[in-house]
Amino acid sequence: MCGIVGAVAQRDVAPILLEGLRRLEYRGYDSAGLAVQDREGYIERERALGKVASLAERLAERPLAGPTGLAHTRWATHGAPSDRNAHPHMSGERLALVHNGIIENHEPLRQALEQAGHRFESETDTEVVVKQIDQQIGARGDLLAAVFDTLSLLDGAYALGVICRDEPGRLVAARRGSPLVIGIGIGEHFIASDVQALLPVTRQFIFLEEGDVADLRRDSLVIYDEHRRVVDRPVRQSELSADAAERGGYRHFMLKEIHQQPAVVAETLEGRLADHEVLEASFGPRAATLFPQVQRVQIIACGTSYHAGLVARYWFEEHAGLPCDVEVASEYRYRRHVVAPGTLFVAISQSGETADTLAALREARTLGYLATMAICNVPESSLVRESDLVLMTRAGPEIGVASTKAFTTQLVALLLLVIALGRHQQLNADDAADMVNALRSLPSALEQALELDGPVARLAELLVERQHALFLGRGLHYPVALEGALKLKEISYIHAEAYPAGELKHGPLALVDAEMPVVAIAPRDDLVEKLKSNLQEVRARGGTLMVFADSDVRYAEDDDTRVLAVPHCHPLIAPVVFTVPLQLLAYHVAVLRGTDVDQPRNLAKSVTVE
Ligand code: G6P
Repeated sequence: MCGIVGAVAQRDVAPILLEGLRRLEYRGYDSAGLAVQDREGYIERERALGKVASLAERLAERPLAGPTGLAHTRWATHGAPSDRNAHPHMSGERLALVHNGIIENHEPLRQALEQAGHRFESETDTEVVVKQIDQQIGARGDLLAAVFDTLSLLDGAYALGVICRDEPGRLVAARRGSPLVIGIGIGEHFIASDVQALLPVTRQFIFLEEGDVADLRRDSLVIYDEHRRVVDRPVRQSELSADAAERGGYRHFMLKEIHQQPAVVAETLEGRLADHEVLEASFGPRAATLFPQVQRVQIIACGTSYHAGLVARYWFEEHAGLPCDVEVASEYRYRRHVVAPGTLFVAISQSGETADTLAALREARTLGYLATMAICNVPESSLVRESDLVLMTRAGPEIGVASTKAFTTQLVALLLLVIALGRHQQLNADDAADMVNALRSLPSALEQALELDGPVARLAELLVERQHALFLGRGLHYPVALEGALKLKEISYIHAEAYPAGELKHGPLALVDAEMPVVAIAPRDDLVEKLKSNLQEVRARGGTLMVFADSDVRYAEDDDTRVLAVPHCHPLIAPVVFTVPLQLLAYHVAVLRGTDVDQPRNLAKSVTVE
């Protein structure tokens, strides 16, 4: 949800900022802009509607040079995507500012500023902040003091950076509710929405805490907490390689990330399994005391992470004997809750910065849960820092907006949790050992599933001209169908819905005709015969069927029925394995339709606003 990057250096920073924007583009990509300050303090700005590449073209025609600067890639909230609404926003020629987040009280602030004589050029909430800082500087004459005074007037969320004409070589940054890291170079300092943006220039990072304000100069860095006290924040070394954010020979990040799944699943299991058990210490030092007390599980998440939670509900109840509820975070936070004793609250999030998920976690902390747990892919994220227990997925940076490897590693993390908690409940040692073995076989099962790439690409041709598609599954493959439908709609813009197959005749069957393809997931389980009956209902109405069937399940092909044989695997890991061909299906349909696979319209990867 918008990416920001900034630098104070000796060298020319425009190329660093532009590369940073490219690496942050997954956060938003409807417009981009960059402001550079020269040694005398003069600030110049360039902005462009569209992707970072459009901005780069403009900068190629009119290069900007200077040792201090800020840049932004936008996902519009207030004001349509346009040059005028793109950041950086300026106050005259004096200040330039970039912002990620939403200022909720922008309207009254704007009115007061207009009355004080400020003229606004954009429809954004952000412009209020830069004008307000200008107003405060008028009175105080110091950028840092003016930023502090302005922040005390703001409601909402922000990560921001600001530079001032009168103070060349100084950058003031602040965060509340949106992520911001400081990069420490040799004789230079940087800010960015995430570490990936800065990996080409540094590996040393400070993760700002809520309410922090940082005063950056080339050769100095001072961080203040919200009470304006100087604080010491630890410097951390990033282990990520700079090319983790490169496509590495693949046509799209999404394809690369689909193919990384066997490796990142193996990585997520690494060091967490004993011979026949899950190591409880993997969840943090408090797990040994807390896990025996868990009597229920409440999961919250958004988007794809929510689907992982839905799959896990079946596992918790089936294998661990623990009641489990799953809810989307945006709904959870706006209703009253009855929390049963001994309930573990689990938040699932790739980024650890999703606004609704974080808000739900913060609400949960006041509600009497036994403990909170984060299942997350970003170690320094707010979600991880604010949870009692943590299990990291080790998917590595996920750049494609449509989540793939984050989902499968979340499922693995959830299975680890099911086994660990189950051992304090009904799960006996033999069954736990069987589950652990199944998990160990998952990377190779995923390798085999990836070999379906060619056959899936051919199936994709049947979908490419369609406007709608129906996905069916039963039991825990219903949430897998939900995820398959979500992938297809996100990147191909085909309207796709998922239903539990038994619900077909209660409504969706009315939609089935020759124009409505139906994608069905048919693992080898107790429900497969029932599923086959459901699919007969589709065939009888002339619908085109694509059945993704376990290779052990016999399903007859004909002109209207295509069967894709998915290599047989242990039933425990089947939801993870069946996910792969569904990801590939969405991918190939999108490629055939010529959509922007990695950056689908209107979406952003990290949703840090409500
Ligand atoms: C956005 C992304 C999805 C993601 C969801 C939740 O909608 O496009 O891919 O599943 O946010 O994100 P999180 O980082 O909390 O898993």
